[in-house]
Amino acid sequence: KSVAIVGCPFSGGQRRSGVDTGPNSLVAAGLIEQLQSLGWNVDFEGHQQFEGVNATLAQDEDIGKMKNPRSVSSVTEAVANTVEKHAKAGKLPLTLGGDHSLALGTVSGSLRAHPDAALIWIDAHADINTPLTTPSGNLHGCPVSFLLGLDGTDVEPFNAWLPKKPLLTPDRLVYIGLRDIDEGERKILKENNIKSFSMHHVDKWGIGKVVEMALDHVNGAPGKRDRPVHLSFDVDALDPSVAPSTGTPVRGGLTFREGHYICEAIYETGLLVALDLMEVNPSLLEDKDAKQTIAVGCSLIRSALGETLL
Ligand code: ARG
Ligand code: MN
Ligand code: MN
Ligand code: MN
Repeated sequence: KSVAIVGCPFSGGQRRSGVDTGPNSLVAAGLIEQLQSLGWNVDFEGHQQFEGVNATLAQDEDIGKMKNPRSVSSVTEAVANTVEKHAKAGKLPLTLGGDHSLALGTVSGSLRAHPDAALIWIDAHADINTPLTTPSGNLHGCPVSFLLGLDGTDVEPFNAWLPKKPLLTPDRLVYIGLRDIDEGERKILKENNIKSFSMHHVDKWGIGKVVEMALDHVNGAPGKRDRPVHLSFDVDALDPSVAPSTGTPVRGGLTFREGHYICEAIYETGLLVALDLMEVNPSLLEDKDAKQTIAVGCSLIRSALGETLL
């Protein structure tokens, strides 16, 4: 079994600097060695090279409400190609962000290799704004709408590489951890019948039941388990007391164990084909907060890749 680390030092999907140093911090904390001790073959040839785009972010003018559209489009297109290549070579791509706009690339790459895959999105936010509904213009709040090809997403420069027929359908998408949703997003979730487990549902049913219901949903029937899973984990799904160093923290999040349980339970299905760990921003807050967030990030990844408690 091989994992291919795709480090993505990119921050152009939002406005706070520092999230581009997330991938290097996770690797420097010993992630590669940790995965090797779990028995994985780790393929890592250095981080993706985004210096050119990062240097020109300031010149990337808005298109409509979208901030840094050309940069986000070119970076996500490149990431899609990299993830697709690793997935087709039978490796499990592990993408380290960087901001969550990168998932437009990672999920596209996964779906090219595994067209029937499900997307499990763990986040405080739904990241399903369109270029029309986005209140911030930050594209890290929009990747899911592009993956689904929602109204308003057939725009330049993204339509130069995204497929006319979207690779993802709403029935294969599920959210866990939501607690900060914009008005436009609420409408989109409803209209498209997208299964979402908010923190309210986690409180009500417990994380064990929620993960089971989420897997039932994307597989189309209770107990059915055959769809490959792409797990996209935004570290801000966790409570800020657990993962403080992230750009858009929202209180009332998943506990340390709830976050890890999700990763463990998905690993147990044997269906995980790709993993993203996004939005770790070590430059926010004090050094001890950054260290804690990086350590939690590594630990979530280990759980999703088979670290067991017993
Ligand atoms: N919904 C807000 C927006 O569209 C926040 C998105 C935060 N996304 C994230 N990946 N942290 O701007
Ligand atoms: Mn700009
Ligand atoms: Mn988020
Ligand atoms: Mn997110």
